[in-house]
Amino acid sequence: TQSTMSRRVPIEPQRVDAPLTQSATFLVLTITDSPKAVKTIRSTLAGLDGLAKNVAIRDLNASFACTVGIGSKAWDLITKLPRPAELHPFPEVKGDVHTAVSTPGDLLFHIRSERRDLCFEFERQLMNLLGDSVKVVDETVGFRYFDVRDLLGFVDGTANPVGPAVPASILVAEEDSSAVGGSYIVIQKYVHNLQAWNTLKAEQQEAIIGRTKIDNIELDDADPGQQQSHKSLATIEDEDGVEHDILRDNMPFGSASAGEFGTYFIGYSRRLWVIEKMLQRMFVGEPRGLHDRILDFSTPLTGTTFFAPSASLLASLDSD
Ligand code: HEM
Repeated sequence: TQSTMSRRVPIEPQRVDAPLTQSATFLVLTITDSPKAVKTIRSTLAGLDGLAKNVAIRDLNASFACTVGIGSKAWDLITKLPRPAELHPFPEVKGDVHTAVSTPGDLLFHIRSERRDLCFEFERQLMNLLGDSVKVVDETVGFRYFDVRDLLGFVDGTANPVGPAVPASILVAEEDSSAVGGSYIVIQKYVHNLQAWNTLKAEQQEAIIGRTKIDNIELDDADPGQQQSHKSLATIEDEDGVEHDILRDNMPFGSASAGEFGTYFIGYSRRLWVIEKMLQRMFVGEPRGLHDRILDFSTPLTGTTFFAPSASLLASLDSD
């Protein structure tokens, strides 16, 4: 059977379950038409584990980890392997008021450490190797805010799965044999209108999020047909009533002097449709028209889907 197969051939996932750190860099790249681009990218990805070890060893307490995701358009070119079953470009989601935009990206590097300097050093060595094979679409440096709060002032990440629920929620298993040990990733870079947000009373903000601000206590769901909170809209059940979690490693970013206040959303999932359903419910609303009020104060500048293949698959990319 499939599962005895996967036990015989050990498949190492990437460090997708690495802990939330003080610092993170989100790097989105596209492939250029430089003649050596694909070869360079393949060999860099194959050597990524070694590159990460170079940097991680400098301070083993700093929890350094890097995961790489490959976009739908680039998958065939870079891997020359069968496509993960659900992998496709981020679909624009148009609600009556707000739109989740779809933006380009062939590679995502999610670089994490307790130390900003380790993230920086890794990125320096990585960009050096990639050279003119890539063009930077976006680089965002995120930081951890106190109490793991986002810049709206709420604790962010509470409902994430923990322990054995992490691989069960984020790693593709026997349902897609060629994608085993991998994970779908969706990113969106949001900027907030903090001035407008801060005119709301704490109770109004709490109703929008679905948790209390100081104590982080979950509020009851609104009645069906009424305006739902963010946490209710982002809770997904399948037709059998089974709830499907994703893993979020959101980070605040911004610059007070430039008036930029943001949340970099990043979600990992075993099932891409779960994240897409969250976006549908947030932007279109449930019922239609009652969109997530968080969006009245938050605008996504990007939206891209990737697949983070297993570390074993990455290591094999150099083999021709
Ligand atoms: C919950 C913030 C965007 C999915 C939460 C919570 C906060 C939050 C404060 C409650 C605490 C927690 O469980 O983490 C934000 C901010 C966003 C954002 C500031 C950007 C403006 C998104 C997006 C998605 C998402 C785009 C999915 C596509 C979730 C999920 C939960 C959650 C799944 C947990 C729901 C539950 O089971 O209780 N978010 N979020 N969030 N958010 Fe977001």
